[in-house]
Amino acid sequence: MAMIAKKCPQYQVKIVDINVARINAWNSDNLPIYEPGLKEIVESVKGKNLFFETDIETNIKEADIIFVSVNTPTKTFGFGAGKASDLQYIEKTARSILAASNSGKIVVEKSTLPVRTAESMERILNSNNKGLHFDVVSNPEFLAEGSAIADLENPDRVLIGGHQTEEGLAAVEEIAKIYANWVPREKIITTNLWSSELSKLTANAFLAQRISSINSLSALCEKTGANIDEIANAIGKDTRIGAKFLKASIGFGGSCFKKDILNLVYLCEHYGLPEVAAYWESIIKINEWQTTRSVKRVLRSLFNTITGKKIAVFGFAFKADTNDTRESPAHLVVRELLEERAIPIITDYKALPDAKRDLSDVLDKVQLIEEPYEAAKNAHAILLCTEWQQYAALDWQRIYDSMSKPALVFDGRNILDGEKLKKIGFDFIGIGKA
Ligand code: UGA
Repeated sequence: MAMIAKKCPQYQVKIVDINVARINAWNSDNLPIYEPGLKEIVESVKGKNLFFETDIETNIKEADIIFVSVNTPTKTFGFGAGKASDLQYIEKTARSILAASNSGKIVVEKSTLPVRTAESMERILNSNNKGLHFDVVSNPEFLAEGSAIADLENPDRVLIGGHQTEEGLAAVEEIAKIYANWVPREKIITTNLWSSELSKLTANAFLAQRISSINSLSALCEKTGANIDEIANAIGKDTRIGAKFLKASIGFGGSCFKKDILNLVYLCEHYGLPEVAAYWESIIKINEWQTTRSVKRVLRSLFNTITGKKIAVFGFAFKADTNDTRESPAHLVVRELLEERAIPIITDYKALPDAKRDLSDVLDKVQLIEEPYEAAKNAHAILLCTEWQQYAALDWQRIYDSMSKPALVFDGRNILDGEKLKKIGFDFIGIGKA
């Protein structure tokens, strides 16, 4: 919304949320999320044509277009628990929009949703006796955290789906007009509603599948002496495969991939396609296996016992350039270290407050230290879990000198120079490297 406000001064953008503390944070100098470049954009438009407000009713009433961006977490109860999306916030939002409206509006689904959600929204919105008509349009978001601003400035595509009726097509065009202020028309794709909804889940499933594929082969590399980075480079040169999203890692994390694939699995089961469901579910299974087997490799190198040993975890965010820790592989690593009764010392450039929240039940058993040199002191091993580029630039000799010997580095992101570390004296384990 900040990008829309910046690119389209002719629109007034109002952001509302039931969480007052969150809105207050957006109105302060301390934005509630870290995202490179976001603060500058928000500051350039805040109070001009971008406003963060708590009066939801009035803002619904006054809006012509409403983007619905409420969360759709995985259901934890009842039918579909553990896989299906919990749509209660979407439904509540549709009902609040209807209750507050006295004119028809375009309602845009921005949240990631199961296919055919728009049908339910439409039924709720159009089952009114006020004589109002609402058009529901799907406009999924493809930005990735950490590179959100660049992704929004210059998207590969913008996708807008609507009903193929006169009214539906007009609503799609109204949304396309917003993006056309900065995105070339040929990059704005319009489709039917269901294709747009399902494209979002499919895009994330395909991206996650690439990581699980390369990660599964990283295990074969470790057995054979092949090097996974060399393989990724060699196969990525084939333009049909392409070089992006082929970096072997300790596993993918984030709020999107696992949730969205589970949602896809649930949809396949729901539509009687168990083989398709099992295929996509295996992408998740390989991902969890990749993290767990990494911890086992570390354990073997530390003489099969880490009880009472300090183990430094470098990075807790699910990837670099964000403070987001949702589904972070580092979280699973820390839990497994605790199972083995090790003492995890966690460091991160932006994510320590979130780590503190995630680990609130075990805060007496872990340490959170911002300074990586401090975190490594007297540790038996360093487990690098997040690809913060700053880690590659540390003074590794200084780190080695302060650690217990033999000192191990496990590079769960393949960003360090293993040969250099071995020369210093470290034992070194990389992903997909014998
Ligand atoms: C992902 C998609 O990339 C976005 O296109 C999508 O819009 C977003 O989900 C969403 O649904 O909202 P995001 O979760 O922010 O974006 O982060 P990614 O950059 O996709 O990274 C996901 C995980 O995969 C991270 O843990 C990352 O470290 C890992 N990864 C990524 C690898 O292990 N190897 C790679 O080559 C790339």
